[in-house]
This record gives sequence, C-alpha cells and structure tokens, in this order.
Amino acid sequence: MSRVLSGIQPSGTLHIANYFAMMKPMIRFQEEHDLFCFIVNYHALTSVNDGNELRNNTMEAALDFLALGLDPEKSYFWVQSDIPEVTELTWILSCNTSLGLLERSHSYKDKVAKGIVPNAGLYTYPVLMAADILLYNAEIIPVGKDQKQHIEITRDIAERFNNQFGNIFVLPEPLISDDIAVIPGIDGQKMSKSYNNTINIFEDEKTLKKKIMKIVTDSTPVEDPKDPEKCNIFALYKLFADNDKIEILRDKYIKGGTGYGEVKKELFELILEYFKPYKNRREELKNDIGEVYNILKKGAQKTREVAVETLDQVKKAVGISY
Ligand code: TRP
Repeated sequence: MSRVLSGIQPSGTLHIANYFAMMKPMIRFQEEHDLFCFIVNYHALTSVNDGNELRNNTMEAALDFLALGLDPEKSYFWVQSDIPEVTELTWILSCNTSLGLLERSHSYKDKVAKGIVPNAGLYTYPVLMAADILLYNAEIIPVGKDQKQHIEITRDIAERFNNQFGNIFVLPEPLISDDIAVIPGIDGQKMSKSYNNTINIFEDEKTLKKKIMKIVTDSTPVEDPKDPEKCNIFALYKLFADNDKIEILRDKYIKGGTGYGEVKKELFELILEYFKPYKNRREELKNDIGEVYNILKKGAQKTREVAVETLDQVKKAVGISY
C-alpha cells in the first residue's frame, strides 16, 4: 500500500480526457492504496480571474468526482484551499528554491511563449505543487507527461531541503501511464480545454450528439475499407467499448461498407450508456448540495491532520516556530 496523490485544476468543465487520464485511475487507487485526491483551486487561480467561475468550477469538479465513484470514506478528498498549511509551506519552500530551477520550467516557458502574460503565481506554480506533494508525504504521483518536470522540481526542492534541514520530506515518484494514448478531441488534436475541442463528461444529450457528429474524419466513401488506427471516432470508441465490441468494429472498418456516420451514432449511444448511472448519481448529489459541502469539510479536516504534522516539523527545522 503506497500513498498516492494527485490533483486536478478546476479551470474548466471536466472532459473525457480528464476522466480517462486522471479521474478513473485515481478512483481505482482508492481500493488498494492510501489515496489523496484534491481539487487544486489555488493553482487554477493562476489562470482564472473570475470569482464566480472559479467557485463554480470547484464545486462542479467535486460533484464530478463524487458522482464518478470517489469514496470520501476510503480516501482523502478535499479542496486545496481548505488546508491553509499548503500556502504556508509554499512560502517556506520558496525561500529555499533557486530562481534557476523555476526558470527551467517547460510549462512556464510554454505558457509565456503562447503569449500569456505571466503573474508571479504562475512562476511559483511548481513550488505550490511541491508543497501539495510534500505536505502529505506522498510517494506516488500519477500525472500526465506534461507534469513530469514538476515532479522532478518537487524532488529537487525536497532533496535540497532535506540536506539543509534534516530528513523531513519523502521523495515522490511520478507515475506516468503510457497506456493511455493521447485522447483526441473532436477536431483530432489532443483533447484540451484550450483547443475548444472537448467532450465533457456530463454533457447533455443534445450537445453530446452535436459534438460527436462534428468529429473530424477523412473522406473515405462508405463502401471502402478504412484504417481504424487513423480514425478519431475509433480512438474514442476504444475508451468506452469492451474488447469484443472493439474487435467487431475493427473488422467492419477493414471490410468496408460501414460509414463514419453510423459509427458516430454507435459512439454516441455508448458514451450515453457509459455515464448514465453516474449522471443519475450526480443529479442526486446536486439536489443535496449541503451534504456535498459537508463531505468536503470533513475531507479537509481529516487531511489537515496530516498537513499540520508535517508543517510543524518543517517550522521547527527552519526556526519559524520558537
Ligand atoms: N499541475 C497539475 C496539473 O495541472 C495539477 C496539480 C497541482 C497536481 N498540484 C498537484 C498534480 C500535485 C499532482 C500532484 O495537472
């Protein structure tokens, strides 16, 4: 049993790439590991500057997780900002982190290259992320490839701190799942909120249909054979179907005679069916929002005990508690 930790940013509506790459595997970890799962609203604050939007996205993300099966009894589940110790630790770590380390951050450089005018929070984002991980003595951090460097930075910060102040922090290991290939959006690029090509997890039926009908394909005629591995519809279908169904569809592609329109309809039905029980559960939770606040509050209380313990040690070590 290891301590597994990861967070998701509430910077938009969560989509099926978030689900398959992060949420679904995280929810599975609760069965056999010590799971720490949280909504990183302080990180989202580096890019969202509308209070209602951030508040709303945070609650929606919490509802999504709970509806999809995250069990707050089996795991630690909370909203990042409910644990103020994380920002305290961020400051302490900042004073022990070289600028050079942050200047090498790809994620920061990419954002600046895209024309985003960076605020100081965006620059120190990796330090907050290090605090997220180190505060809870997390061992395994499941993340996408784009976050690998952030885990390396966390390890650098932890090592440097440990050398200076004694062995306080656990050095975390990233867990990058290679079996989740890039999930295409409806335009065929990587599915991402910033490309505006997402299919959301809890999309209403009409929008879901519209989006699926828009999935970009090549123009092979209905009767001709098609290459399933080059098809965006097939790539999405594989996420939802069982192996038998996948093989049947693969044969149909290779044989020819099946049009993309028909496959899109099948995909639509499949997605609808897949999320249906979760959708019902989500409705129930939404109608009992007071209970959701309770769950988050309790989650924060439980998690905070771990945080306070680590922060106490850190404050003693650096001479802040006197
Ligand atoms: N930066 C991560 C992302 O955008 C989110 C995140 C914040 C995170 N803190 C974390 C992930 C701690 C893992 C562990 O995906």
